[in-house]
Amino acid sequence: MSNKENSFWPFIVFMPIDVDKRALFLSTLFSSKIAIDVLRLFKWNEDLCQSDIVKSFRMHSNKTIIATLKKLVSLNILSEEYRFEERGKRRVKVKCYRLTELGKWYNLLFRDPQELDRDTVKIYLTEVVREFIERITNFASKFSIPQSSYIDIADIARTFLAKPRYKDFDVIVFGSNALDVYITHGYKAFFGGSGANVAVTLSRLGLKTGFASRFSTDVIGLQSAYSIAREGVDISLSVFDRNAEPSICSIVHGDKIKIECRYDRGRPPVVTELSEKLVEACRKAKAIYLGEGINSLYVKLIREIGGEKLIVYRPSAEAIQYFLEEVLSVFRQSPIVILNEDKAELFSRKGFDIPKTFYDHGIKHLIITLGSRGAKIYSYPQTEPKKIEAPQTEVLDPIGAGDIFSAVFIYMLLRGADIESATEKAVKTASASLSQLGPRKQIIISNLA
Ligand SMILES: Nc1ncnc2c1ncn2[C@@H]1O[C@H](COP(=O)(O)OP(=O)(O)O)[C@@H](O)[C@H]1O
Ligand SMILES: [Mg+2]
Repeated sequence: MSNKENSFWPFIVFMPIDVDKRALFLSTLFSSKIAIDVLRLFKWNEDLCQSDIVKSFRMHSNKTIIATLKKLVSLNILSEEYRFEERGKRRVKVKCYRLTELGKWYNLLFRDPQELDRDTVKIYLTEVVREFIERITNFASKFSIPQSSYIDIADIARTFLAKPRYKDFDVIVFGSNALDVYITHGYKAFFGGSGANVAVTLSRLGLKTGFASRFSTDVIGLQSAYSIAREGVDISLSVFDRNAEPSICSIVHGDKIKIECRYDRGRPPVVTELSEKLVEACRKAKAIYLGEGINSLYVKLIREIGGEKLIVYRPSAEAIQYFLEEVLSVFRQSPIVILNEDKAELFSRKGFDIPKTFYDHGIKHLIITLGSRGAKIYSYPQTEPKKIEAPQTEVLDPIGAGDIFSAVFIYMLLRGADIESATEKAVKTASASLSQLGPRKQIIISNLA
């Protein structure tokens, strides 16, 4: 279907269910050039009166045209209506016609889609989808075919949302996706998930970003996927799991923010298996971000892709608490580590000396973000950190600060910045974003200059 003569449009035409009526319908409408010409004369929402129609067809007799109009009315393609018009002193009764809903479809069938205005095409496409699903559903239920056997939501999601966008990635993000419900600030819900926020920010910065996660295929999971894909992130590396439940987090603001997430422990909102496709994509990517997820999988991944590559690792608090050994195995691959103060504190409680124990396990660069106080950078073999101050800013909602920080940090490094200046920009941009409500804040580009 490459050249224009051979290309097809997705028309749906509605036909009578009764077979004989269907045959009559087809032969009446499609075998009559005049019927089609009359049909083509109409615009979607405009009436035409009999005299105007007759005038448009000088080659045909009035009788033929009137008979054709009658036929189109009987096929329910046109509706007719009498009107009174003033002609001089006389009031005359005239017959006028307009397209029925069905008629609009047939009218479209004989128009060049290229000539339709955008709004009409939009209405048309929406209707095509709606009508199509409705008809298919009715048809199937008549034959007792269960919906699940022909509508596979997971499959539809994959087709529409998870179309591969990029062949080569700048960065691939591993992490979670979630629905964040703010209990404070008047029960507002936002799509979030730390990894997803990072991916969205990287994509907004113009990087070819891939996101590896797990989506449930209910309304929440699909909307979550859409919220990420619409930002230009390639989610073809993610898993759509019809048996998974969505991850839903409640967030309570206060002196200390409380975040609690509920998800299926057996099917967490992260990837749990390394497909060959995923490994291959990572091999070709310029950078990898490893957020919350399965740490043993990260170890395996880094081993498989090998080589010199920017790897930024931001382990979750849960991983540090319950899977420390696996976290340390990731450390041995020498990623750049980003922690906030709470996570640094968890390491201290596990007996870690900062930065010595990190260096001992193979870390060359450790960045600890300090909220309102900015961040500090430890670079092997120095024991004293380099401190980066945060600017004083309005803070409405600090959720997602670390995600903005991480994304900007990676972006700057890929642009060739060194760790210190990347951290400076990351601090500045993260701090400036906190007057916005919600976990996925817009970056203020001027802070990157
Ligand atoms: N209250 C604040 N005032 C100014 N900047 C902040 C504040 N909280 C966070 N930031 C900025 O966001 C960055 C990351 O915040 P932080 O709270 O340390 O991470 P996380 O979001 O992972 O807990 C900080 O380095 C800082 O630049
Ligand atoms: Mg914080």
